[in-house]
Amino acid sequence: MHLSAGRSFSCAEQRLVIIGLGLIGGSLAAALRASGFKGVIAACDLDQDEINRGIEMGLIDEGGKDIATQLVDASMVVLAVPVLAMEPVMAALAEALPRAASHVVLTDVGSTKATIRSCAVRVFGEVPPNMVLGHPIAGSEKSGVAAANPELYVHHRVILTPEPNVNPDALARVRALWQVCGADVLEMDVERHDQVLARTSHLPHLLAFSLVDTLARQDERLEIFRYAAGGFRDFTRIAGSDPVMWRDIFIANRHAVLASLDDFEAGLARLRQAVESGDSDTLIATFDRASHARHYFDTLLNKTSYQAEYNMQPQGKVTYRVHSGGQAKGRIRVPGDKSMSHRSIMLGALAEGVTEVKGFLEGEDSLATLQAFREMGVAIEGPHQGRVTIHGVGMQGLKAPAGPLYVGNSGTAMRLFAGLLAGQAFDSELTGDESLTKRPMARVADPLRLMGATIETAEGGRPPLKIKGGAALKGIFYDMPMASAQVKSCLLLAGLYAQGETRVREPAPTRDHTERMLNGFGYTVSREGDTCWLQGGGKLTAGPIDVPSDISSATFFLVAAAITPGADIMLEHVGINPTRIGVINILTLMGADLILENEREVGGEPVADIRIRYAPLKGIDIPVDQVPLAIDEFPALFIAAANASGTTRLRGAEELRVKESDRIQAMADGLAVLGVEHTVVEDGVDIVGNGNADAPSYGGGRVDSLGDHRIAMAFTIASLRASDDIVIDDCANVATSFPSFVDLANKIGMHIRVESRHD
Ligand code: S3P
Repeated sequence: MHLSAGRSFSCAEQRLVIIGLGLIGGSLAAALRASGFKGVIAACDLDQDEINRGIEMGLIDEGGKDIATQLVDASMVVLAVPVLAMEPVMAALAEALPRAASHVVLTDVGSTKATIRSCAVRVFGEVPPNMVLGHPIAGSEKSGVAAANPELYVHHRVILTPEPNVNPDALARVRALWQVCGADVLEMDVERHDQVLARTSHLPHLLAFSLVDTLARQDERLEIFRYAAGGFRDFTRIAGSDPVMWRDIFIANRHAVLASLDDFEAGLARLRQAVESGDSDTLIATFDRASHARHYFDTLLNKTSYQAEYNMQPQGKVTYRVHSGGQAKGRIRVPGDKSMSHRSIMLGALAEGVTEVKGFLEGEDSLATLQAFREMGVAIEGPHQGRVTIHGVGMQGLKAPAGPLYVGNSGTAMRLFAGLLAGQAFDSELTGDESLTKRPMARVADPLRLMGATIETAEGGRPPLKIKGGAALKGIFYDMPMASAQVKSCLLLAGLYAQGETRVREPAPTRDHTERMLNGFGYTVSREGDTCWLQGGGKLTAGPIDVPSDISSATFFLVAAAITPGADIMLEHVGINPTRIGVINILTLMGADLILENEREVGGEPVADIRIRYAPLKGIDIPVDQVPLAIDEFPALFIAAANASGTTRLRGAEELRVKESDRIQAMADGLAVLGVEHTVVEDGVDIVGNGNADAPSYGGGRVDSLGDHRIAMAFTIASLRASDDIVIDDCANVATSFPSFVDLANKIGMHIRVESRHD
């Protein structure tokens, strides 16, 4: 990999002085050199041999032992000495640098920050505004300048911990220093840094040192290491690290390390107990949670996960560059239904017995639900190719999670969890990503309060939700002010824990997967007309679940075929629950050539293969009763409307404004870029289609999906009939519902290029 390739960062320091020329300082010099850095690099080290080696290796221009000599004309100084050597070095700096030299930026690379901040306060009276403490999270078990590696920081994180008084120019320059080395730079406060590092770096080092030492002591001749295999090697590689550096770190970050060691010892004691008593459930639950957390960590490293944001890593921006034109042909199977996937985990976890799920959607939203149950002590195997095995813990078997439950982008997870958690004995907190944090939660918090729950929301009824455990819930009759399956499901789930009957009336039919699945688990939910109800206090019995393909994901391909002359697509095994088929009805009314084949029932849900071929579409007034039945399908249907002849009119769809984005506005803005005539109203839109099989329907351009997966996919499909390429920004969240979307779209004959960028 070439360091400067594709990077626009530059570092304009005239003279950079590195104090302490070891692996970290030497690698910084090497990376700067590789980036084409124009300034002088000087180094200071007590060991003249290291300086000489650095010069020989071409990493530094000059150097010596005396700090004052090297500081002349310096523009930036990087302290790269062990943590406990920081104070004398800072004292020397304070003496050598006149106080007026505030243009000289000071920074460091120490692995602990609170002690270094204290040193600065002792030496300078405060952390000077031109000092930006930092920590590159990179290293190696090797030490010394000889091990310097110009790629050490590429795609590694550098955490800066600026103080409130920091000079913004100094901060920008330290950022630039690391960015030219290929690092991802982020900021956090000193305390958080030290806690995070104690857990993710210091504790593992302590364990590796301890394990190797324990074994080495037991076997004086080190005979045992001859038999050690990969597991030992993988676990203990870091025990070869620099002892002095690590001694300093453990002394400096004592408090945070001890806290993380306490947690670790408690975990180890639990495992010890499980091994001793042959407690296979605990062993499986622990290993399974750990194994998945480890895989999850891999996805974080690959930056594919929504939790990247949660963990304060810089989030990758994904852009789709979609070639105009292309074909829509083939036989495909889209992933499992998102709504059912969430519910399969929730009910499986609360059931007695083992639930085997097939067809589970391995998208970020449903994985967030799965992960949340692991955090509440449920052993869940998988997912492996859509198969998940849930070891149900029974209605009262969930355990308090160690921290807030993070559900990413998923409104369904947050709202359904709100009901389920309101019935637990423990307190809980639900958080989500930036988009979810803007979405309304009063719609569930208010009726749950009527049931006796204590729930705190942020201002305006937004997340996070803080739910008090131990509430005595009582059943209510709730007349829902909006048609929402999430609100209905939330109340039914709370109703499982409530005394008496919980009844919900819906103003229009909404998806009924919760009712169907509860019945499938042997928990009676009754319905009469627009009202459904259940009695609290029952139990769920595990059983197999077969999740069909998601009609909401299939919709993008239905529309792709409906608008593309010559198209012929077969979508296999799609769920056609009557509460979800608005899109089929609407497309059919518009004139689409769509037929259902092989209709069957799978695990209580109707399923069919859907064949769709191109036929000219015409604009229609969308029947209002179809709106809740197609609520997630409108972004794609807007594209169908733009390709129809005449005007398509949508009304009664104000709920679209509170989805992952304001979908009416987000689609209108994108349509404007393409040059599609439309008029927005509060609860809908009029779209004037320009459908003509012989010419493109609109132009191309750059569209912002606003991080909404369905907006991103809708405009991707639009490219089939655009005269120019469409570039769609902020597409990472397609992974929440449809991780294989681009592959499948390319498979039917589209041309999508995915570009990822890390700021
Ligand atoms: C869902 C219900 C709908 C839908 C969402 C999934 C569900 O939301 O938009 O994607 O699984 O219950 P509302 O209940 O807010 O309409």
